[in-house]
Amino acid sequence: MKKDQKIFVAGQHGMVGSAIKRNLLKNGYEQVIGLSSKELDLRNQNEVEQFVKFHKPDIVIDAAARVGGILANQTYPYQFLMDNMQMQNNLIHASHMFGVNKFIFLGSSCIYPRLSNQPMNETELLTGSLEPTNEWYAIAKISGVKACEAIRKQFGKDYVSLMPTNLYGPFDNFDLTTSHVLPAMIRKFHEAKIEGHKEVVLWGTGTPMREFLHVDDLAKAVLFAVENVLPDNLYNVGTGIDNTILELALTIQKVVGHKGKIVWDSSKPDGTPRKLMDVSKMHALGWKHEIQLNNGIFSTYQWFLDNIQSYKTVSI
Ligand SMILES: NC(=O)c1ccc[n+]([C@@H]2O[C@H](COP(=O)([O-])OP(=O)(O)OC[C@H]3O[C@@H](n4cnc5c(N)ncnc54)[C@H](OP(=O)(O)O)[C@@H]3O)[C@@H](O)[C@H]2O)c1
Repeated sequence: MKKDQKIFVAGQHGMVGSAIKRNLLKNGYEQVIGLSSKELDLRNQNEVEQFVKFHKPDIVIDAAARVGGILANQTYPYQFLMDNMQMQNNLIHASHMFGVNKFIFLGSSCIYPRLSNQPMNETELLTGSLEPTNEWYAIAKISGVKACEAIRKQFGKDYVSLMPTNLYGPFDNFDLTTSHVLPAMIRKFHEAKIEGHKEVVLWGTGTPMREFLHVDDLAKAVLFAVENVLPDNLYNVGTGIDNTILELALTIQKVVGHKGKIVWDSSKPDGTPRKLMDVSKMHALGWKHEIQLNNGIFSTYQWFLDNIQSYKTVSI
């Protein structure tokens, strides 16, 4: 693999994009380019075309998106649909127009129907209704998968889509109003420990099962797609292992060192009972996750401690 290839990582200041960039640099790729949303708004077709035309990247990795939880999705359905479609359409089309032969599109497991068979494999796509709370986001992502598939089919280019499961790691969002379950628990247990609270209240019943992948393992899957031509258009990226939310909470509580009781607030929603990726397609090609959940939570907590000042302003 030529390490002097120019790689445009869109969204490289986010949790996912920054992990991809770190891993590319670590592996000797010298030319990793990209800008912040303030410098290059990917919704602007003209700016994106000028950027791709001028820089002529060999590979484009799309880790840019407007992301958010249920509340944000329900409050801003138009932006979740349109911003995401605009960003990815501009990137995919400019890449196609200006000679980019490899494009890696990142989506998420929400593209699969709400009542998918478990574990969910790639053939579940478009076989049923989506989860209504994030269908706007999911439809945008599905259209990105299909745009890459169409370019692959019609023009024979290596445009591939990777669908990660729930991710966590450095640069995660620890703001309790918008964060995902794992970073939210890290922060709650940490603050309870520091403030001497014996009880930590968590949402739901603790029974749903979820899968978590460290973002550095995803970055390795992306590197695998950079260095190999994947034979198909769509791949799940996860661990293939799930845990109950209770197990997750107990692991985080132990890592953080909080001693006390967990109280489940069952008036809050649990969400879908199980959401697990079938990752056999990526395993068959040779990629497999390496970071075990316990170790990943430990290093993420260390990162949180090192960067805690950034989160001090947001109260529980
Ligand atoms: N986090 C997860 O658990 C998870 C799970 C599965 C899949 N994914 C996928 O991974 C991708 C990235 O997620 P993330 O967690 O890294 O999100 P994130 O931390 O919020 O990062 C999103 C990135 O998108 C960029 N961006 C947003 N709007 C933009 C615009 N108009 N123009 C240019 N750039 C824009 C942001 O740039 P600035 O920082 O410069 O504003 C930021 O770098 C998404 O496609 C998501 O679906 C994430």
